[in-house]
Amino acid sequence: MSVLIVCPGKDPENWVNELRNQHPGMNIYVYPEDHDNEEVEFALTWNHPRGLFKNYPNLKVIASMGAGVDHILSDSGLPDGVKVTKVIDDMLTEDMSDFVLSQVMNHIRGLHYYTKSQKEKKWDRFQYQRPKDTKIGIMGLGVLGNAVADKLYKNGFKIHGWSRTEKDCENVTSFHGKEQLEDFLQNSEILVCLLPLTKNTENILNADLFDMLPEGAYVINVARGQHLVEHDLMEMIDSGHLSGASLDVFREEPLPDEHPFWEHPKINITPHIASLTNPKSVVPQIVENYERMKEDEPLKYRVEIDKGY
Ligand code: NAP
Ligand code: GLV
Repeated sequence: MSVLIVCPGKDPENWVNELRNQHPGMNIYVYPEDHDNEEVEFALTWNHPRGLFKNYPNLKVIASMGAGVDHILSDSGLPDGVKVTKVIDDMLTEDMSDFVLSQVMNHIRGLHYYTKSQKEKKWDRFQYQRPKDTKIGIMGLGVLGNAVADKLYKNGFKIHGWSRTEKDCENVTSFHGKEQLEDFLQNSEILVCLLPLTKNTENILNADLFDMLPEGAYVINVARGQHLVEHDLMEMIDSGHLSGASLDVFREEPLPDEHPFWEHPKINITPHIASLTNPKSVVPQIVENYERMKEDEPLKYRVEIDKGY
């Protein structure tokens, strides 16, 4: 019985070391090193080559190295009956909340703007907005959306949230489903996207949606690049309807050199670092699921493949 790590373009060393530390008996292969496909029952992965897992006749579990599972579920060649798990981790959740809070603070205090004006030696002051006067809309009230809502609320912001199913969250005015999307958006001076990427959420950040936001709204996308229709965002910023955006995720990563986002004065870019998985912190849940798989027990953090998250 073996574990296969598949993460092309990502250094697997920390994962291998942590797995060996925390489960010395585990037999681990790193794709594409030589291994017997029949031995592999558990895969730990990020962006595997499409169709790869069809070649593993005894594969039972595919574990994502991160919170998102779109990189697994978008493969139409997954073996029948395989189970898929995601990461839920306090460190990952805390890091995401800190990141969104810092982007929100940067925006309301104009810090992105002052970073740019320093380069031009420009002494150009303007009034700022305060948390208590700022309404934030969070799309996706799952593990991360909830934690972000909580952190922003504790920092004095007014929070609205939107999810697929109805919620009753303390401190968050919540909306759900397509019917309530417009009401939710009308209350979102800063819109934070923390949705999973599914067939229902792909391209959701488009011109029609932006139109429903208040004039001057700001967009923060920390979910997936495929949520955003890039051209619509640029048009809405250039027309003045949106005041700008902070983007951590992109349709193509790394963002190509020639991409217009790089040079846009009102778009702030980070290289998909809102929240990085820490192998030391996450490996215990991987080991636990490996043991659960062996004992045929229910897995932790299993995702619903049909639902897409
Ligand atoms: P999660 O716990 O699965 O929560 C997903 C939320 O989205 C739920 O509240 C769900 O509604 C809502 N949702 C799903 N489909 C919807 C729809 N069609 N309409 C309205 N709401 C919908 O996910 P999570 O762990 O918070 O992670 C969210 C995403 O963050 C991940 O999938 C990943 O793409 C991204 N992420 C990014 C980074 C980064 O560094 N940039 C790091 C980690 C994760 P219900 O509650 O009603 O089901
Ligand atoms: C990162 O994007 C993750 O899904 O954990």
